[in-house]
Amino acid sequence: FETSAIGAALLEWYDTHARALPWRVGPAERRAGVEPDPYRVWLSEIMLQQTTVAAVKDYFHRFTRLWPTVGDLAAAEDGAVMGEWAGLGYYARARNLLKCARVVAAEHGGVFPRDHDTLLGLPGIGPYTAAAISAIAFDAPETVMDGNVERVVARLWDIHTPLPTAKPELYGLAEALTPQQRPGDHAQAMMDLGATICTPKNPACGICPLRAPCAARAAGTAPLLPKKAEKKPK
Ligand code: ADE
Repeated sequence: FETSAIGAALLEWYDTHARALPWRVGPAERRAGVEPDPYRVWLSEIMLQQTTVAAVKDYFHRFTRLWPTVGDLAAAEDGAVMGEWAGLGYYARARNLLKCARVVAAEHGGVFPRDHDTLLGLPGIGPYTAAAISAIAFDAPETVMDGNVERVVARLWDIHTPLPTAKPELYGLAEALTPQQRPGDHAQAMMDLGATICTPKNPACGICPLRAPCAARAAGTAPLLPKKAEKKPK
């Protein structure tokens, strides 16, 4: 199977099965010319680190109601932001969130930079978040790698190398799968597939849009992948 055929099947599935998420511009809106707001993309990606979609939704609504733009967030009191963050955990994220908002307001005129390396230089934005913002907000052909994507890729190519050793190999395969057309939708489609069909336990291979090219599906190994290195006894 060509990676382009796999990517096309994934996007076709996403067009009818994309999850409706508060921070997402869905495929139909996107086709109608709606552009994602980088502020909302950034805020959601920071909140979604180490936190589930279900837990993030209400926080995302409250934050965007209180602070509709990055400039509003930059001008907020530290205590107000930390108070609204309470319950999400990992409070360094909230402190970096404010720092980042203030840098974007003060040094970038309140506009999120489009340049990948400039994004990487902002507080709290690492390789994952920079790639996610580039792809989802700016439709740049960046490869967005999270646990969901690792699982999908490990199964597509039936990779039995344990994590974390397999990470560079899985990244390379995900990169080969990233299309030049609609890379933002592709990144979100990979996440949705991993969250709803290519799940860690009991993957729904029977209804998967990638069941034909999936090597682990053919080998019967999908539920076992990706493998994790055995923990060394201390
Ligand atoms: N998890 C992390 N980022 C996400 C996104 N943009 N959509 C859905 N799940 C996610």
